[in-house]
Amino acid sequence: MSFNDYIDRRSSESLKWNCYPNDVLPLWVADTDFRSPPEVIDALHQRVDHGIFGYSIPPEGLDQVVIDRVKRLYDWDICQEHIAYVPGIVTGFTIMLRALCEKGDAVIFQSPAYPPFIGSPKASGLVGIQNPMYRDDQGIYRLDFDRFERQIIENKVKVYILCNPQNPTGRVFCKEELQKLAEICLRHNVTICSDEIHGDIIFDGRKHTPIASLDPEISRITATFMAPSKTYNIAGLHASVALIPGEGLRTTYEQYRQYLIGNPSLLALVAAKAAYEYGNGWLSEQIAYLQSNRDFIDDAITQGTLPGVSWSKPESTFLGWLDCHELPVEGGLFEFFMEKAKVCLNDGSTYGEGGKGFLRLNFGCTQAVLKNGLERMSSAIRDI
Ligand SMILES: Cc1ncc(COP(=O)(O)O)c(C=O)c1O
Repeated sequence: MSFNDYIDRRSSESLKWNCYPNDVLPLWVADTDFRSPPEVIDALHQRVDHGIFGYSIPPEGLDQVVIDRVKRLYDWDICQEHIAYVPGIVTGFTIMLRALCEKGDAVIFQSPAYPPFIGSPKASGLVGIQNPMYRDDQGIYRLDFDRFERQIIENKVKVYILCNPQNPTGRVFCKEELQKLAEICLRHNVTICSDEIHGDIIFDGRKHTPIASLDPEISRITATFMAPSKTYNIAGLHASVALIPGEGLRTTYEQYRQYLIGNPSLLALVAAKAAYEYGNGWLSEQIAYLQSNRDFIDDAITQGTLPGVSWSKPESTFLGWLDCHELPVEGGLFEFFMEKAKVCLNDGSTYGEGGKGFLRLNFGCTQAVLKNGLERMSSAIRDI
C-alpha cells in the first residue's frame, strides 16, 4: 500500500466526500483519505468472519497494549483501573463536563478552538471562556498564561479543556508550557480534560507530552483522552481511550457515564487493539508522508502560489490554519473558495475568537489531491 494510492471514498459513506457536489474537492472534515494499516483490516475481517456479534468485553490484552504504549512513548506509568474506553473524545469530555459542573459554571479553553469546545459547554448550560492564543514575532502561536489565570479567577472556572496538539493551529505544547498551565489549574482547583487526539502525528522529530505524565499531582486532576481514530483513520468506528488516574475523578466520571453511554462497539475495539499493537511502522510512514504534504503547502505559500495567504507551519496533525486576512475577498472566505475554486475548507469563523479571516485546510490526502486543491485555490485567487 502507498499513501499515494487514490481510493474512491464517494462510494463509501464518507462525510467528507459526500456532503457536497462531485465537482467539489473536500479538504475539510478531519479524517484522512488513507486506508488503515493492513493488520487493522485483517483483524476486522477475522472478527467479522466469526459471525456472532453479541454483547462483548474489550479484547483480551487491549489494556496492556495501552499501558505499554503509554510507557514506551511517554514514560508514563498507568494501571489497568485508570483506563476507560469511550466511543468518542467529544463524548468523553462532554460527560466529564456534565459530571463535574452545575448549570452556569465556567469552562475555559484556548481559542481559536475546535468548534465542539465551544458547542459542548454551551449545550450543557455552561459558560465557555475563550483564552485567545497570540502569534509571536516569528508567527508561532503562544499561550497567554497571565490572562489564562486571570480568566480562571474572575470566572471561577471549574474545568479546563486542553487541546494538545492544538487544533486548529497545530501547535505542540512543550513541557514548560504544560507545566505552567497545570500549575495554574492546581492553584485554582481546576480539573483538566486533556484532548490529545492529535498526539500521534507530530512533525520534525518533536515529541508529544501528555500533561498528566508530568507529575502525579497533575495526573490526579486530569482526565486524558487519546484515540487511534485520527491516527489510523478509524474515526467512523468510534473507539477512544480515557485515562483517569485520580480515583475521585474517575468515580465521578464513571457514575455519570454508566447509564448514558456504552462502550465502543466490539469491532471498534478490535480495530483499536490491532492499530496500537501492529501499526507503528505504518504510522512512521504516514507521519513522513503528511510532513511532506505540509512542506508542499509551506513551499506554495512562501513561493507566492497562494498570494494573500500565510500560515504558521503546523508542528503536528494534518490540518493547516490558513491566515487569509490579506485576501481581497468580499463576503465569506468559505463561500469564495467553494464557489470559485470548488474546494471545501473549514470556515475559520466557527473556531471562536481569532478565527475570523482564517480557513482550515485538511492535508490528510494524496499529494495529487493536495496539488489539485492548491492549484484550484491559486487560480481562484489570481482571478479576483
Ligand atoms: C481536537 C479534536 N478533538 C476531538 C475530535 C473528534 O473526536 P471524536 O470523533 O472521537 O469525538 C476531533 C476531530 O476532528 C478533534 O480535532
